[in-house]
Amino acid sequence: MLQQVNGQSSGSDAHGRESLREDLQAFLGGEAPLHQLDDLTKVNPVTLETVLRCLQARYTADTFYTRAGCTLVALNPFKPIPQLYSPEVMQEYHTAPQPQKLKPHIFTVGEQTYRNVKSLIEPVNQSIVVSGESGAGKTWTSRCLMKFYAVVAASPTSWESHKIAERIEQRILNSNPVMEAFGNACTLRNNNSSRFGKFIQLQLNRAQQMTGAAVQTYLLEKTRVACQASSERNFHIFYQICKGASADERLQWHLAEGAAFSWLPNPERTLEEDCFEVTREAMLHLGIDAPTQNNIFQALAGLLHLGNTRFADSGNEAQPCPLMDDAKCSVRTAASLLRLPEDPLLETLRIRTIRAGRRQQVFRKPCSRAECDTRRDCLAKLVYARLFDWLVSVINSSICADPDSWTTFIGLLDVYGFESFPTNSLEQLCINYANEKLQQHFVAHYLRAQQEEYTAEGLEWSTVSYQDNQTCLDLIEGSPVSICSLINEECRLNRPSSAAQLQTRIESALAGSPCLGHNKLSREPSFIVVHYAGSVRYHTAGLVEKNKDPIPPELTRLLQQSQDPLLKVLFPADPEEKSQEEPSGQSRAPVLTVVSKFKASLEQLLQVLHSTTPHYIRCIKPNSQGRAQMFHQEEVLSQLEACGLVETIHISAAGFPIRVSHRNFVERYELLRRLCPGAAPSPHGPPPDEGRSEWSPGSEQATLQALLQDILHTLPALARAPAEATLAPVHCGRTKVFMTDSALELLERGRAQVLEQCARCIQGGWRRHRGRKKERQRRAAVLIQAAVRSWLTRKHIQRLHAAATVIKRAWQEWRVSTDLRSQGGQ
Ligand SMILES: Nc1ncnc2c1ncn2[C@@H]1O[C@H](COP(=O)(O)OP(=O)(O)OP(=O)(O)O)[C@@H](O)[C@H]1O
Ligand SMILES: [Mg+2]
Repeated sequence: MLQQVNGQSSGSDAHGRESLREDLQAFLGGEAPLHQLDDLTKVNPVTLETVLRCLQARYTADTFYTRAGCTLVALNPFKPIPQLYSPEVMQEYHTAPQPQKLKPHIFTVGEQTYRNVKSLIEPVNQSIVVSGESGAGKTWTSRCLMKFYAVVAASPTSWESHKIAERIEQRILNSNPVMEAFGNACTLRNNNSSRFGKFIQLQLNRAQQMTGAAVQTYLLEKTRVACQASSERNFHIFYQICKGASADERLQWHLAEGAAFSWLPNPERTLEEDCFEVTREAMLHLGIDAPTQNNIFQALAGLLHLGNTRFADSGNEAQPCPLMDDAKCSVRTAASLLRLPEDPLLETLRIRTIRAGRRQQVFRKPCSRAECDTRRDCLAKLVYARLFDWLVSVINSSICADPDSWTTFIGLLDVYGFESFPTNSLEQLCINYANEKLQQHFVAHYLRAQQEEYTAEGLEWSTVSYQDNQTCLDLIEGSPVSICSLINEECRLNRPSSAAQLQTRIESALAGSPCLGHNKLSREPSFIVVHYAGSVRYHTAGLVEKNKDPIPPELTRLLQQSQDPLLKVLFPADPEEKSQEEPSGQSRAPVLTVVSKFKASLEQLLQVLHSTTPHYIRCIKPNSQGRAQMFHQEEVLSQLEACGLVETIHISAAGFPIRVSHRNFVERYELLRRLCPGAAPSPHGPPPDEGRSEWSPGSEQATLQALLQDILHTLPALARAPAEATLAPVHCGRTKVFMTDSALELLERGRAQVLEQCARCIQGGWRRHRGRKKERQRRAAVLIQAAVRSWLTRKHIQRLHAAATVIKRAWQEWRVSTDLRSQGGQ
C-alpha cells in the first residue's frame, strides 16, 4: 500500500520515493522508534511488513515480548536470561498497580489472568492458550507461568496452610520433569520437544490460593517408542535409565554399560534433559515410591530389549518366522523383564489368531516377517501409551484438589502448532484440525476485542465484515459428510480400500467444498486442505490404518498374563475391552478411532475454553538453528501466518487498519483545505503548541474538530469518481481518526496534489524571479559593454590623434629642414 501511494505521488527519483515513504512511515508510526512500540496493533499501517520490522527491531534490542491486541507475541531468545524471570520480576508484576503499563511480559498475562479471577467478573475462570511451532518456547512459557502462580498464588497466612500450599505447588511443578521425561524427545527441531498436547488446570480456592491442579494430555506420539527418524531420539526416559542407572540397577534391568539398542538411536548425544535423578526425585515427590519406580524402569528396559528382537523370513508360509540368532537372548530378557511367559510372547508376535464363523472358530496363521515386526512394535506402543496414561492419572491423583476445596481455575494450554511437512498424515490432520478449532475460538475473541475498541471510539461495527474458518472446519469435521466421517466410515466398514480409492471417495463426496483441493501433478494419492494458515497436502496412504490403530487382541490377552505388578495394573482383565478391540465387519457399534477419540477430547477442551476468559501467547522461533541474535524474516512470517496473527492483520484490514490521532491527522492533512476554495481559513489558526499558556485541552479539541470536519469535506473532491469516496471511508472516533488503506491512499493523493500545486507555484515564482534577474544582468552587461566600447573607441581615437599630431609635427619639421637645406645650396 505504501508503495502504491508513493508510486502515485512521487516522481521517478528513487531517492525522493524513499524519503517520502519514510515521511509517511514516520507520520503513521508516530515519533517512537519501532523497537519501542510495545503493541503490534499500534504499528501503522497494520501490515505484515511493518509488523515484521517492529518485531525484528525489538528482537535486536533484546526485547522479546510484544503485545498484539489481546495476544502476547513471545520471541524465543535462545539464550538464558535469568533476570527476566526472577522472583523479584514476578513480584514487580504482581504488585504493580497497573501491570499492563509495565513492559509486555508473560507475567503481565499471568497477573492479568490472576486479577480477573480475583475480580469475580464472569466468566471468572481463565485460560491461557500458548501456541507456536516446535521449539518456539511453549513449554518453557507454560513452565514459567506455573512458577509464577506457585509464587503469587501461594498462601501466606498460617505456617500450617503455607506448608500445605508449598507442598501442592512443589508437586505441581514436579509434574513437569516427569511428564517431560516420558513425553518429550529430542527432534530435529527441538532438543526437548513435547510429543503430546497438555492442558493443565490450576485450581484456586476462594482466596485465590492454589489448592491443586489437573492435567489432561492429548495425542501422545507413541510411534516414537518403536520408530525414530534419523538424527532424532526416543523419549528422554529411555536415555535417562541407560545413562543414570546404578551398577545394581544395570544388573537388574540388563542394561550393560555401552549396550546397543535399536530403539535407542544417537545415545552418544547427552542433553541436559538426560538427568535421571531429577525425574526420580520428582516422581518421589508425586508419591511414586522407589519400588514402583523400579518396576516402571524395569518394564522400560524390557521394551528396549523387545526392540532388539528381530525375525528372519521363514520361506514357508505355513511356518512362523524364525528368530535371528542374536535376537534369542533379547526376547528372553524382554520376557523376563516384562514378566511374560517367553513362549506365548514369541507365539503372539509370530502367529495371528483369527476367529471366524458362527461358532467363532479359532484359526492360527503364521505372520510374515513384516507383520511380526508390526506386532512387536504394536506391543511396545501399547505398553508405553498405557504407562504414560497411568502416569498422568497418578500425577492427577497427587496434585488434584478435593472438588470442595477449589472454586475457580486458570487453564494453561501447551498445544502443538500448525504443521505442514513434505509428507503429512493423520497426525498432522489431527493437529491442524485442533489448530483450526483454536483459531476459530481466537478469531471470535479478537473480533470481540476489536468491536470493543470501535465501540469505545463511538464507531459502528457494521462496517467490518469478516469470514471465519467455518468452511474449513465443515470440510474436516462437518455433518453429514466430512473428511473425518469418511475416514471413520472406512474403519467402520473394515473393507479393504486402497489409498487411491480413499482419495476418490473424499474428492467425490466433498467436491463442493471451497477448502478442498487436489494436486493433479502429484503421483501419490492425496488431498489438499486449504487451512487458514496455508494449504496442506495429506497423503491418503496408511490413513485408515492409522485411524483404526488396530491392536491385535492376542497382544492385550498376552499382557494380561504378565506377573508384573505394574503391567497387571496397566492391563487388567476387563471383558468390556474385548468388544472394543475386536471390530468385526458386521458390528454396528461405533468404532473408537483415533480421530473420533481426538474429536471428542477436542470438543471437551473447547467447551472448557468457551466457559473461560481466554488469553493468548503466540511463541515465535526467530530462526530454526536455535541461535541467539538471529532473526529470519521469512521464517517468522510463516509462523505469524500459522499462529493466526496474519489473520488478525486481515481482520484489522477488514475494518480500519489505520488509526491516527486527531492532532497528527490535522497536522498532515490540513493543507487539503486549499483544494476546497469554499473552506474558509481556520478562524482558530493552527493547533496551538502545548506549551502555550492560553491553551486548554477543550479548546484544542474544538479547534481540531473544526479542522477535521473541513478536511473530511474535501474527500469527495479528491476522489476521481464519486464511488471512490464512498469506498474509502474515514471515521472520526473520539480520540482517533479510523480509516482504510484506500482512504489513506486518497488522502495521500490529495496531499501530493496540493504539494504539487505548491511546488508549481514556488517553481513559477522562482522562474519569474530568475528571468527578471537574468534580464537585469543582461541589461547591465549591455550597458557595461557600451561604456567600455565607447571608452575604448575614445582611447583609440585619442591614440590616433596623438599619432597624427606626431606625424604632422615630424612632417613639418622635415619640410622646414628640407627648405633650409635647399636655400643654403643655392
Ligand atoms: N524464554 C526463554 N528463554 C530462554 N530460552 C528459551 C525461552 N523459551 C524457549 N527457550 C529455549 O528454546 C527451547 C525450546 O523451547 P520449548 O521446549 O518450550 O519449545 P516448544 O514450543 O514447547 O516446542 P515443542 O512443540 O517441540 O514442544 C528451550 O529448550 C529453551 O532452550
Ligand atoms: Mg513443548
